[in-house]
Amino acid sequence: MGRLAGKVAIATGAAGGLGLAGVRAMAAQGAHVVMMDVSSAVRERARELAAEGFEVVPYTGDVSVEEDVAGVVELAQRSYGRLDVLWNNAALLSPEWMLQDTDVLHVSRDHLMRTLEVNVGGVFLGSKHAVPVMAASGGGSIINTSSVQAAGGDLTLVSYGTSKAAIEHLTRSVATSYGHLGIRCNAVVPGLIAPPSSPAAAERPHRLEDIAPARLIRDSQMLDLPGDQADVANTVVFLASDESKFITGQLIRVDGGVTGHLPTLADRRRLAGAAPTPLKAGLG
Ligand SMILES: NC(=O)c1ccc[n+]([C@@H]2O[C@H](COP(=O)([O-])OP(=O)(O)OC[C@H]3O[C@@H](n4cnc5c(N)ncnc54)[C@H](O)[C@@H]3O)[C@@H](O)[C@H]2O)c1
Repeated sequence: MGRLAGKVAIATGAAGGLGLAGVRAMAAQGAHVVMMDVSSAVRERARELAAEGFEVVPYTGDVSVEEDVAGVVELAQRSYGRLDVLWNNAALLSPEWMLQDTDVLHVSRDHLMRTLEVNVGGVFLGSKHAVPVMAASGGGSIINTSSVQAAGGDLTLVSYGTSKAAIEHLTRSVATSYGHLGIRCNAVVPGLIAPPSSPAAAERPHRLEDIAPARLIRDSQMLDLPGDQADVANTVVFLASDESKFITGQLIRVDGGVTGHLPTLADRRRLAGAAPTPLKAGLG
């Protein structure tokens, strides 16, 4: 018997990356998974997983569009009669998008608003539509994907960091409001997780792990090993399962220790070519 046998899950951002790895891990533990992504590639990925014997259903939709989110919850109910797990994982994260996301003076309002609409709006709408359905069958587990970028200020990625900080608040808010209905809500907080190398990845003009803030995160790890998709997927399986039945309102950091030590503003300033903060007279 798998650790998620009999459970019905929805995973968003499921066409690739961490989402796809997490879907595979949940399905391997016996979950029935509805895979949602704005990219129609989710259909092909679902066909591949189904061919391997996993119980998955694809759904093409945008997490920032309420009818799409209502539709995926409806599909889970129609296909499997219940909903136990919602993994709100979709986010705008292409290297091209992230390179435009610098600081308040240089980021457009449109960029900020679209980032919030997808990253935060998707978590909000997912929770809104999943909670009543989960409550009807005695509870469930909502898992949100945050990021180490939520943990502090930075000289860049202002929209992304703001969105992930909001997700962490939403996580605690949903946990607080619906715990009495048996609904748990936690966030998985990845550090830098590079996708497995592939010929297609090697040909991309920009790779996430090559963007300077990502390199700094890698250099700030306590552990001298790369984070991989299984590290996040294993945590998602744990939070989806009854093994975590007494855990709610928590941020589970899967980051090699990046957020466990003092900040690295000096590194950030060096990277931006800015002068270090002068020490106050008397301290130096
Ligand atoms: N990879 C990392 O190092 C890392 C680190 C910290 C946090 N994260 C978080 O992990 C999650 C997954 O990241 P990833 O690295 O797998 O990225 P990814 O770009 O490979 O996957 C994101 C998926 O979300 C989908 N998506 C984007 N907008 C959507 C929308 N409006 N509606 C539905 N789907 C949409 C994309 O099509 C894509 O398949 C994100 O929340 C990201 O912020 C990733």
